[in-house]
Amino acid sequence: MEQNKIYKRYTITSALPYANGPIHIGHLAGVYIPADIYARYLRSKNEDVLFIGGSDEHGVPITIKAKQEGIVPQKIVDKYHNIIKKSFEEFGISFDIYSRTSNKIHHETASEFFTTLYNKGEFIIKTSEQLYDKENNQFLADRYVTGTCPHCNNERAYGDQCEKCGTSLNATDLINPKSVLSGNTPVMKETKHWYLPLDKYEPWLRKWILEDHKEWKPNVYGQCKSWLDQGLQPRAVTRDLDWGVKVPLEEAAGKVLYVWFDAPIGYISATKEWAEEKNKQSAVGSSSPTTNNQQQTTCLTGRQANNFIDWQTYWKDPETKLVHFIGKDNIVFHCIVFPAMLHAEGTYILPDNVPANEFLNLEGDKISTSRNWAVWLHEYLQEFPGKQDALRYSLCSNAPETKDNDFTWKDFQLKNNSELVAILGNFVNRTLILTKKYFDGYVPEIPALTERDKETLHAIAGFPIKISNCIELYKFREALSEMMNLARLGNKYLADSEPWKIFNTNPEQVKTILNISLQICANLTIVMEPFLPFSAKKLLQMLNIGKLKWEFAGKTDILKPNHQLGKAELLFEKIEDDAIIAQIEKLHKTKEQNNMNETVVTPAKPDISYEDFAKMDIRTGTILAAEKVAKTQKLLKLSIDTGIDKRIVVSGIAEFYDPEKIIGQKVVILINLQPKTIKGITSQGMILMAENEKGELCFAAPTKEFNNGSTVK
Ligand code: 2FM
Ligand code: ZN
Repeated sequence: MEQNKIYKRYTITSALPYANGPIHIGHLAGVYIPADIYARYLRSKNEDVLFIGGSDEHGVPITIKAKQEGIVPQKIVDKYHNIIKKSFEEFGISFDIYSRTSNKIHHETASEFFTTLYNKGEFIIKTSEQLYDKENNQFLADRYVTGTCPHCNNERAYGDQCEKCGTSLNATDLINPKSVLSGNTPVMKETKHWYLPLDKYEPWLRKWILEDHKEWKPNVYGQCKSWLDQGLQPRAVTRDLDWGVKVPLEEAAGKVLYVWFDAPIGYISATKEWAEEKNKQSAVGSSSPTTNNQQQTTCLTGRQANNFIDWQTYWKDPETKLVHFIGKDNIVFHCIVFPAMLHAEGTYILPDNVPANEFLNLEGDKISTSRNWAVWLHEYLQEFPGKQDALRYSLCSNAPETKDNDFTWKDFQLKNNSELVAILGNFVNRTLILTKKYFDGYVPEIPALTERDKETLHAIAGFPIKISNCIELYKFREALSEMMNLARLGNKYLADSEPWKIFNTNPEQVKTILNISLQICANLTIVMEPFLPFSAKKLLQMLNIGKLKWEFAGKTDILKPNHQLGKAELLFEKIEDDAIIAQIEKLHKTKEQNNMNETVVTPAKPDISYEDFAKMDIRTGTILAAEKVAKTQKLLKLSIDTGIDKRIVVSGIAEFYDPEKIIGQKVVILINLQPKTIKGITSQGMILMAENEKGELCFAAPTKEFNNGSTVK
């Protein structure tokens, strides 16, 4: 691929999250913050940018969740689509459109894409035996089946992937498969599917990736190489399911497109939807933007003179740069499968880059939705209201760009307190407060320059290019650290110049110092905006200026003498230990809960003889009366009809049963246990209870009306 090519416009996509749960810090750090930084930076450079997001609303996990909750899948995706969309808005992820794959336009687009490939004869059609659940009359695609991974022996591998070793699987690869629906062992049944012949595209893919895209990040390039070196196989792009985009062929009734076939087409349908909406708006002369920031895009090279937007320019014009932001689990789909689909279709551009990130862990453990081991965005904002940028900063400075990384609450606090507050916030605050104090909040002129001033001005000019270069190479951590270095420079300049010491003797020099410091603040509004958009906005208000484009970065005469500044406020607040301890404790509780849930059933006891068992005289009985044993928490005094006699038994079930509610309860009782005196009461026998791993008790009792005194054997 031609390097350093100048593009006319940018299509930036970010992985469409599955709409079956809220999103957490791992999603933000891995995908959405880097994508947002990139989009904001390019908009600031006046580039024509389309930044796409949306919910992935198909796939088996969504239908399983719907079944579990006894509702239709559409209800699940409606709920989570709205939660996810709101979280993105709250964190300032500046999508031009946040769409969803259950939209009609998406079904039409995906369906047409399939038809084009079908008409071109690109698919292989194969009939094969697939796993089938007879009880539920259903084929078991993907996550509808679990079993043992043939590669690592993980007993909980899914039909599409083993999450332990990361291998991508076919359901029929699983050893000892079990239906998620019934728990039964599935049978084999013939079914017909349409396959994308990845093996046919392999030579083309090898050249396109391994030769033409050597510049891709090593983690991405390495994963692609490993897939290609193993040899590609045809991939089924249809499934026997009823939730998804219907396969547009008569002979495919009851089948839908595989979620990984339709989801990336979601980027294209979102573009169509966005263009339609924009064109509608310009037709009625409305300028009200529906999405973030688009109104800031002044360079409309992708739009036609009459302002009509053709969605196709964002997907078919070679002068458009297509970049996919994703996490590492999506690499194969965005670097191999989707490009193969686009290539087979023939009229689309291909991604210029896929800067996938590795994973973010939380306090040393893999983030997990099922184990609730995550920091959920909506919960974070309840606990740290208004502190979006503190999280954005910590996640970007710790982004898993080259390897998995760890988020810890201590590190979050440290980054906030010793960088955002102590460096950036402190510099801005001192500059504004001193200007207020010495010059009544008006920007002073520069009467003369010392050597230090000149060096500082020179250094300021060097920052934008360093930051630009990093962002354009997808090195967002480094870019962020350069941004903070500009604030460091300002802090050091102020500390070395000591205006507070010289004001009485040399007020002219103080004018210069504060003018330069204020120019650094103005520069900061530009270079911090992609990373910390909320704080950049606040700083603009403090400086009493409008938003500045990237072309102003590096300039040192942005704020003119006599310009009146706004009110100084704290840009960032210190995060106290209490808040962090509370978060750590919350995670500890989750861990304890998980440990309890994961406790395996009590280990089996050694074998006994039948004779030993037969010594026990176990009978059915009925509770006639029950009362709490005085001065105890756990004991109930029960009067039992055993069919043989009526007797008293003391039982440790008071935490689980209310005495009034168990009168008439059928029980199973060991009647020949030696009597024992408990709290002064003679207990004659023992009621048999089931106990789970949490120590909860429940009666073991006959399942139908049965005479008291019946033997249990
Ligand atoms: O891994 C996921 O969460 C997928 N829903 C990502 C899909 S990205 C794109 F293809 F839509
Ligand atoms: Zn495995």
